[in-house]
Amino acid sequence: MSSPTIILGIESSCDETAAAVLVDGVLRSNVVAGQDVHQQWGGVVPELASRAHQEHIVPVVDEALRIAGVDRRELSAVAFTQGPGLIGALLVGTCFARSFAQALDIPLLAVDHMQAHVLAHFIRDGEEREPPSFPFLNLTVSGGHTLLVLIKGPLDMEIIGTTLDDAAGEAFDKGAKVLGLPYPGGPLVDKNATGDPRRYKLPMPSITGLDMSFSGVKTAFNNIVRHGMEKEPDFVERELPHLCASLQQCIIDIVLRKVQKAGRAHGIREVAMSGGVSANSALRRQLEELGRREGWKTHVPPLAYCTDNGAMVAMAGHFLFHAERFADLSSVPHPR
Ligand code: KG4
Ligand code: ZN
Repeated sequence: MSSPTIILGIESSCDETAAAVLVDGVLRSNVVAGQDVHQQWGGVVPELASRAHQEHIVPVVDEALRIAGVDRRELSAVAFTQGPGLIGALLVGTCFARSFAQALDIPLLAVDHMQAHVLAHFIRDGEEREPPSFPFLNLTVSGGHTLLVLIKGPLDMEIIGTTLDDAAGEAFDKGAKVLGLPYPGGPLVDKNATGDPRRYKLPMPSITGLDMSFSGVKTAFNNIVRHGMEKEPDFVERELPHLCASLQQCIIDIVLRKVQKAGRAHGIREVAMSGGVSANSALRRQLEELGRREGWKTHVPPLAYCTDNGAMVAMAGHFLFHAERFADLSSVPHPR
């Protein structure tokens, strides 16, 4: 019997230090250490992120190996996020992975963070879940990216649409900041969006093709909140459910209009969603409804695989390993 393929995946592109162990494509552990230090600053502070990654990386990797019941000498390869992301944050994961691979004399696998978000759909963890079949359309919505990607194979992807300015997650977070909510505001907007989603009119950008823009929404939302507060100091407090619902619905409308257009233009039968914003409950529901209307099968991974995690990096590493696409031990981060 041949020995199993055991991949350690390491993620450090932004503000989560994460590691996971995958044995023959099956997830054995998935450890994530978040960073509360950014909350008070209203966004990720790169210098603080790097420092926190340095503190977390060894315990997080140790914990992932311990939970998986895997000795590091049993590892087949080490996968790490090469980019895109914050340079200082990426450096911590890159240096760690390089030294680990070198010390153990095993291959290094350089993973693209956005590919990893897509490959999260293929993580097997014992739960019944059918992965998407190729070709499918993937909507990647995170704090740093908003992409429509045509997935032809595990390592064969084509970007067909993207944001021209802010990412969808940024639009959530910046809107939340105006409302006085702490970073990251996306989940809090989701939680508070219990009001009327049409109470406040926000502009739909008029961009042809499959690209998107969120800067108009941001400006309009800012103005609504500022004018409201000028008239009434407790405006935000009173209107919070309606403000959150209106902001959320506008972002969802922008994204799903393009998903519908892309699906039709490319004759797609299956649509999947990944990235941190796919944790949004209204977006999940409305994508499913859209899929039903269009006759598509839709896929959204469990929440733990939507936000940044090591499992998706290990999964991408698994595909790279079997394609024998190994990285050089002198690999450097690719922030952009
Ligand atoms: O993928 P991710 O964990 O990190 C990046 O690669 O950016 O995504 C983080 C983003 C943040 O902007 C956060 O506010 C947003 O995902 N997010 C949400 C929700 N949960 C996380 N946005 C809206 N609703 C949510 N429930
Ligand atoms: Zn991400």
